[in-house]
Amino acid sequence: MSELLKDKIAKLNADALALQAKSSAELEVLRQKYLSKKGEVSLLFDEFKTFPKEEKAQWGAPLNQLKRLFETRMQELKDQLADSPANRLNDAPDLTRTPDPIALGTRHPLSLVREQIIDIFSRIGFTVADGPEVEDDKHVFGMLNFAPEHPARDMQDTFFVEKENGIQKPTDILLRTHTSSVQTRVMTAWSKALNNDPENAPHSLRVLCPGRVFRNEAISARAHCFFHQVEGLYIDKNVSFADLRQALLYFAKEMFGPETQIRLRPSYFPFTEPSAEMDISCDLCGGKGCAFCKGTGWVEILGCGMVDPNVLESCGIDSNVYTGYAFGLGVERIANLKYRVKDLRLFSENDVRFLEQFQSC
Ligand code: PHE
Repeated sequence: MSELLKDKIAKLNADALALQAKSSAELEVLRQKYLSKKGEVSLLFDEFKTFPKEEKAQWGAPLNQLKRLFETRMQELKDQLADSPANRLNDAPDLTRTPDPIALGTRHPLSLVREQIIDIFSRIGFTVADGPEVEDDKHVFGMLNFAPEHPARDMQDTFFVEKENGIQKPTDILLRTHTSSVQTRVMTAWSKALNNDPENAPHSLRVLCPGRVFRNEAISARAHCFFHQVEGLYIDKNVSFADLRQALLYFAKEMFGPETQIRLRPSYFPFTEPSAEMDISCDLCGGKGCAFCKGTGWVEILGCGMVDPNVLESCGIDSNVYTGYAFGLGVERIANLKYRVKDLRLFSENDVRFLEQFQSC
């Protein structure tokens, strides 16, 4: 019996020294083959238990040695595998796993509203024109019939650009206070085209001027030193105030819903005559009067009027032949009405908790 056991131990010792595994699966097979309950080493121990006492004393130590040899070999193989390139590949990210959802960005509420305004007016023939934010006095004020002493030309209201040794020097370079400056550029270009090539020049002008404008105001919940406008201009023969009213009524209903009413109140702008401010019926209370509309049932949304003949002439357009209307609205104002944003500063602070509340499309 002991001779047989001796052979078995010798064979298993040789097996242990020759153990090889290319993967943890193969290693597991070996573990089961030798060390599991029914494994070859364990079976020897079972056999050992049946030995008479005197034989046990002889075989206990070699059997334990054999078991430890298997355990160390297995551990060595395990360590080798853990370090093998194949195993490192196994630890690599599982590319077939369902990925975590990627947080989609949202569009800024001012972009959403600007796009919507442009979309509504583009359906009645308006196209978009662009112009510089840093402008000269001529395009922002001079050609728009502002008197030389007009308060908007004061540094209290307008940011002038040039400085010398940190001191503001008299200059006519400024940050535009409205996008009407783009209108003066577009009108001048159109009148040139009309003069140069009357056959091929467009017979009318219908543009939207969206953009950022700057005013020298203290920043608060209700005012900011910059905001966004979309101004509109339509010049043709026989453009009337009724055309202006109809275009604005169409806009109000498209923007705020078909039941929206408008009202025009006389106002004053240097570049339009007559001028008006437009209110829409308060969509919060349906015109009955609430805290939002200060009990009036109306909220102001834009300024408008018929282009002053002086403006047409300063841009080279014959005011005896052409008339036109213009309007200008604040994008923040419309966004406030749509989304009830109480604090203007939220629009420029880039707080994701605010921004992610808006749908991207
Ligand atoms: N430019 C004016 C403003 O910034 C708005 C306006 C435009 C008013 C066109 C009338 C006509 O306040």
